[in-house]
Amino acid sequence: MAGKEKDDQSDTASETSDDAKSVRSSQEHEATPATSVEDLALPCKGLCDDLDPVYDITKLLVDDGKAIPRPKFTAMTAALDEYEWSRHSLFHPSCLPPTHPLLPHALGITHPNLEAPLRALPTTLVVHDPSNVLPANKSERVRDWDSETDWEDDADVLRVYRLHTGAAGEALPEERVAHLYLAADRTHGQGHHSFVYIGELDVARTLLPGYTHTLGNEQPAAEPDALAGSISLRDPEFEGVLGLAPPIARVSVAAKLGIKGDDHLAREARMYARFPAALSQHHRGTTRCTEIDEPVPYGAVVPQFFGYYVPCDEPKDKGYLSAILLVEACGTSIEGKTLNSHERRTTASLFSRLHDVGFVQNSEYPRNMLIQPGPLSLPPVQRSRSTPSFRLIDFGRAIDEEELNIIEANEDGTCSLTYLAGDTLDGLWRHTWRPYVCRYFL
Ligand SMILES: Nc1ncnc2c1ncn2[C@@H]1O[C@H](COP(=O)(O)OP(=O)(O)OP(=O)(O)O)[C@@H](O)[C@H]1O
Ligand SMILES: [Mg+2]
Repeated sequence: MAGKEKDDQSDTASETSDDAKSVRSSQEHEATPATSVEDLALPCKGLCDDLDPVYDITKLLVDDGKAIPRPKFTAMTAALDEYEWSRHSLFHPSCLPPTHPLLPHALGITHPNLEAPLRALPTTLVVHDPSNVLPANKSERVRDWDSETDWEDDADVLRVYRLHTGAAGEALPEERVAHLYLAADRTHGQGHHSFVYIGELDVARTLLPGYTHTLGNEQPAAEPDALAGSISLRDPEFEGVLGLAPPIARVSVAAKLGIKGDDHLAREARMYARFPAALSQHHRGTTRCTEIDEPVPYGAVVPQFFGYYVPCDEPKDKGYLSAILLVEACGTSIEGKTLNSHERRTTASLFSRLHDVGFVQNSEYPRNMLIQPGPLSLPPVQRSRSTPSFRLIDFGRAIDEEELNIIEANEDGTCSLTYLAGDTLDGLWRHTWRPYVCRYFL
């Protein structure tokens, strides 16, 4: 493909005779379209449209364990006093019980992976970055950072980020503050343009998908009026669980950072913001997809999106701080040769389903397809590799119809998109689907 980035070619080295066989079989498949399947022409028609909710992680929340030493937490948050929202935040030391916040990345404690949409995205993210991962540069990270000891002992470094809503700098009417803890020894993946960490996120418990008033306790809920006097919160949804369950909860998420001077992360965030909700929902049963000749599982196509955050203030030393894309952590990259043919068709179907709602991912490589034990409707301990959950990631080169319309409206005919191989989304799809998807995934 003419404009395809050079680094994208790296995986082609792994092409083997098996791959060649796959290409042949996909060409045969192309030559004999499955016209016998009546609804094949319909994009991704669900045979069974029931939503299949993921397991309610509120049952797995860890509420005890070591807390960040109180004096340390108080000193940290004093640094936020210059922000008006900080004094009213749920995370102000005057609001949080001394048992919280928990020490980040503590030895032996695994916080549940956030797998369903938050009830609302945090508007302000306080990022704890004592090992200096935010510059997204390996050489600037604290080399010997050890989360098992250093969160308790070493000084913290706080950075304030805002949810990027497109209207930079505008004050948002409601503050929903969350805290994100990043650590150099919690790297989860690295791409040509990015570093991905498993971060721990503290959010108001009321924002969690499975939140209910009487969460995890037998006691009657306290009267809202009684709480009103004792708690100072601006989170409009907070209805009072103080004393019954901690007002914040710790979950795990994937935090993607982009290297300096690279625009892939911002593009990816735009795509996530435009994806229809259905792309990250799980359905029971199977679906049929254009180009795939058998029913495939009707799971989510992409990870949940938890927001794109940009630094609120320029750092004093004027150094670079990456924006942060927060998404659901969805496992590890696939190794093509370990998938059976049904699994390969399932992975290919995700590209097809994305295309059917008007997007081309445009970077079709095994490293951009994740696998984890499933199904996600079961508790994590009951999930199995034999019923896997796949997810397509990395939309830093993706194109959608909205973008194409903008380009077409450009009168001088110029196009800044180096990835654009065809005049239309379908042109681009044909360019990518045949040589890449079929080779690796079918
Ligand atoms: N949501 C996620 N859950 C788990 N792991 C992830 C997630 N997103 C990314 N990763 C891991 O991080 C790696 C790099 O992420 P990603 O592919 O998004 O970055 P990139 O720099 O755009 O990649 P590329 O080199 O393909 O351009 C992935 O290959 C994967 O191993
Ligand atoms: Mg990638």
